[in-house]
Amino acid sequence: MTTPTIAVLGTGRIGKMHAELIARQVPGLDLDAVYDVFTEGAQAVADELGCRRAESIEEVMASDVDAVAICSSTDTHVDLVVAAAEAGKAIFLEKPVSLNLEEVDRAVAAVKSTGVPIQIGFNRRFDAAHAAVKQAVADGSVGDVHMVRITSRDPAPPPIEYINVSGGIFCDMTIHDFDMARFVTGSEVVEVYARGAVRVDPAIGEAGDVDTAVVMMTHENGAITTIDNSRQAVYGYDQRVEVFGSGGMAVSENPREHTTEIHTADGTRQQNIPYFFLERYIPSYLAEWSGFLDGLASGTMPVTIEDGRAPLVIGLAAWKSVREDRPVKISEIG
Ligand SMILES: NC(=O)c1ccc[n+]([C@@H]2O[C@H](COP(=O)([O-])OP(=O)(O)OC[C@H]3O[C@@H](n4cnc5c(N)ncnc54)[C@H](O)[C@@H]3O)[C@@H](O)[C@H]2O)c1
Repeated sequence: MTTPTIAVLGTGRIGKMHAELIARQVPGLDLDAVYDVFTEGAQAVADELGCRRAESIEEVMASDVDAVAICSSTDTHVDLVVAAAEAGKAIFLEKPVSLNLEEVDRAVAAVKSTGVPIQIGFNRRFDAAHAAVKQAVADGSVGDVHMVRITSRDPAPPPIEYINVSGGIFCDMTIHDFDMARFVTGSEVVEVYARGAVRVDPAIGEAGDVDTAVVMMTHENGAITTIDNSRQAVYGYDQRVEVFGSGGMAVSENPREHTTEIHTADGTRQQNIPYFFLERYIPSYLAEWSGFLDGLASGTMPVTIEDGRAPLVIGLAAWKSVREDRPVKISEIG
């Protein structure tokens, strides 16, 4: 079998990272081309990685490339999914599918009618520690799941221009945690109660968003999940997941930059936790690409388009909960 080829669409922060990983560290997948409306950015990535810079989306879709990685701004995702599906390309799609549920359903319809394989970029599922928590639930070690606690805090807020188009904290940031809650419990969310506050930057509040949030969710199986988010944890990228049940508990803790501890008369110091997602999650992005290749070979992708839709519905329910100051049933959203 020949090695599958891929074009990366969007060479911003995450697209450049994926292109670099594919070119340098993913055996079994060849980076054919990159494309970005920001021509200079795409050209720099193409030059660095020794691949083609496509002139247009049409050129990519008409080429014989096997797959596309859609890593462009969120508002471009669905048009690109539809174009790729119509061209018969396998798709890797960064989260979120869209901020608009009708648009997500347009992507779902395109994927279903053409039957192209698609994987959504919920990379945290591929983090070894979080995946081991999921495994402990799946193999019965934790017993019946009673509660899940997810802590997810960024080191610093993104620029206000990003906040303005992000869909707000629940659809941009917490969406990873909604996915994690579904992933570790294996149970759909049926109700959401969310509170938000502006504790970090008043400009985030002026943009209509919050920077501090707590979400409580009830799952179909009766388990309860709580999530806490902050846009600013001064000590780094704080990512922890705990599942508690009748048989015990499984917890994924933050890794340290390295394992040295400094002991003095004043106390003991450990190394910082990783600064942000590029420092913490590279192994998960690599595992995500292994999952994509396994999915292409087996015909079953590990993170489906439905897995892309469900957390957006939860995010929209969380916003409704904050705005209407009440618990919101998922069935109210769709
Ligand atoms: N899974 C993760 O850990 C993770 C992390 C960060 C971002 N993301 C997601 O990745 C996507 C991109 O985020 P980012 O931080 O890289 O943003 P970014 O702004 O750094 O990059 C977006 C790029 O898309 C390009 N672009 C815009 N319209 C385009 C089009 N029609 N065709 C091709 N390129 C186009 C822009 O020129 C820009 O270079 C977002 O959907 C975001 O939610 C996922």
